[in-house]
Amino acid sequence: MAIISVLNHKGGVGKTTVSVNLAAGLSIQEERKHKDPKPVLLVDLDDQLNATMIACGGPHNSASYMPMITVEDSFPKALLDGFGNYDQLVAESKIPRDSELKVHVFKTDHEKMIELPFLLHNQKDGETQLKRFLQPIQDYYSYIIIDNPPSLNIIPVASLIASQYTLVPIEPDPLSIIGLSSIFATINRVRREKNPNLKVIGVVPSRVRIARKRYMEAIEEINQGYPDLVLPYIKDLVEVEDANMSGSDIFSFTAPQSQPYRQFLKVVRSVIERIEEE
Ligand SMILES: Nc1ncnc2c1ncn2[C@@H]1O[C@H](COP(=O)(O)OP(=O)(O)O)[C@@H](O)[C@H]1O
Ligand SMILES: [Mg+2]
Repeated sequence: MAIISVLNHKGGVGKTTVSVNLAAGLSIQEERKHKDPKPVLLVDLDDQLNATMIACGGPHNSASYMPMITVEDSFPKALLDGFGNYDQLVAESKIPRDSELKVHVFKTDHEKMIELPFLLHNQKDGETQLKRFLQPIQDYYSYIIIDNPPSLNIIPVASLIASQYTLVPIEPDPLSIIGLSSIFATINRVRREKNPNLKVIGVVPSRVRIARKRYMEAIEEINQGYPDLVLPYIKDLVEVEDANMSGSDIFSFTAPQSQPYRQFLKVVRSVIERIEEE
């Protein structure tokens, strides 16, 4: 079992897309490798609930995800209460579309998610609440992937405290590279103060426009600043956006020979390798 936080305080860098497809890809690999495979749990900590929407039918198919996000006994409420009736809180998503073994998600609630950072702040040990909350169910899962909001507030900190690993998608341009140092400062602080076991799996250059020289130079710069941390990159491809819009993982939406399929598979495999190297 491995818990992985997908983290970057910048918005629009591909956190949600990487989270959804990492969850789907790990689920597919788990199903292939094990006779008795365990599901993957995708935890959506962003109040915009994009990961939940994509995994549960797509943003245009609100009929299929709305029942998930209007339940009374929702994830943020259970998290704040400090315990959950897990059987009722967890639901099967629709991804991977082509597999029997589906990624699990929490039934959640948009309004309560908006309040969550403020309410956690007011709680004693609010930062460690998520860790305690996930503990009773973690052995049921092969992986837990946590998608984070674009901030470095108490939510991603709670996510890092609950995780063994973190993965940082980055849109490789000079401004994002400057932001990397804030992300690593936060990771280092959490490691020092709360979670000495936290490891960085790597940085995933995402939404890469290879025709732009600036992007490739930025990847090179990250390679120099953070040797060994750069994972295979994912290009900016319209199929990725189309898959998100239609509520599908890339592995069910595109052919195995296609660029986006191969690029996401490379990322999934590198994540598995780096975790197994431990
Ligand atoms: N590799 C990609 N190619 C094309 N579009 C992408 C890619 N990754 C993400 N997107 C699109 O970019 C936007 C932001 O991505 P998202 O994963 O939501 O980022 P974040 O979670 O960091 O805000 C979304 O519209 C998404 O569909
Ligand atoms: Mg997001």
